[in-house]
Amino acid sequence: MDAQRTPLVVANWKMHKTIPEALRFLDAFLPALEGLGAQGAPGVGRVVEVAIAPPFTALQAVGARLRSATASIGLAAQNVHPEPQGAYTGEVSPVMLSDLGCRYVIVGHSERRRHFGEDDAFINKKLLAALRHGLGPILCVGETLEERRAGRTQGVLERQLRGALAGCPPEGAERLVIAYEPVWAIGTGVAASPDDAQEGARFVRELLRELYGEAVAGRVRVQYGGSVQPGNAYELMVRPDVDGALVGGASLDPEQFAQIVAEAAKAVQAKG
Ligand code: 13P
Repeated sequence: MDAQRTPLVVANWKMHKTIPEALRFLDAFLPALEGLGAQGAPGVGRVVEVAIAPPFTALQAVGARLRSATASIGLAAQNVHPEPQGAYTGEVSPVMLSDLGCRYVIVGHSERRRHFGEDDAFINKKLLAALRHGLGPILCVGETLEERRAGRTQGVLERQLRGALAGCPPEGAERLVIAYEPVWAIGTGVAASPDDAQEGARFVRELLRELYGEAVAGRVRVQYGGSVQPGNAYELMVRPDVDGALVGGASLDPEQFAQIVAEAAKAVQAKG
């Protein structure tokens, strides 16, 4: 069952990189990825799927460069508005993202929940809209430190998942990627332990099983996110329910991000 899931490693650049900076990243990252393959890192770019989520302003330039690259790397957006068009100043619609060739869109990131007041109902609308327009939602869920200390981790994950997935049919659910991102691990340099990452991912999958059954739960990729680095990536991604990573800070550096992709490929081999 585990071997059927191709891990997905995504660079979430957040509010970083101008177009020239984004293109400079690709100038270094694409050869680094090929170089890792040449050095024998098994199946980089084949057994692992890679995607990059630049800011909106660089989506088109990055997409164009990725289309001309030899490796198949997905383009991802960091946010989307639920409506296809309309009077929503400053927003970007799922139709526009599809038009740019986006494969994925991140929804429910804790930074959007915290800084922009996005609640589960709004995230649900975004997720359903993304699916309607052919985008794969990467749904982020995760507890705060306070919630974890209060023993509420599973309750929070369950609320976020049930809220975001309301009205999502099984054929939509199997196109999802879920990122378990404990809020206390994001940008802190302190990743969850591999056991905690596995436990969060396992719980997500258990809830998917309850909602959609064994087949769908076995197909959905559950990433871990929060201070993933080249040095901890393998031990996190080798755990059975962890299918890749959503990487913030370390994804800004082409060598570090390429190394994380290589660690994901090693983890695939180990899981065999
Ligand atoms: P860091 O890798 O910088 O902790 O960020 C994780 C994250 O929020 C990815 O979406």
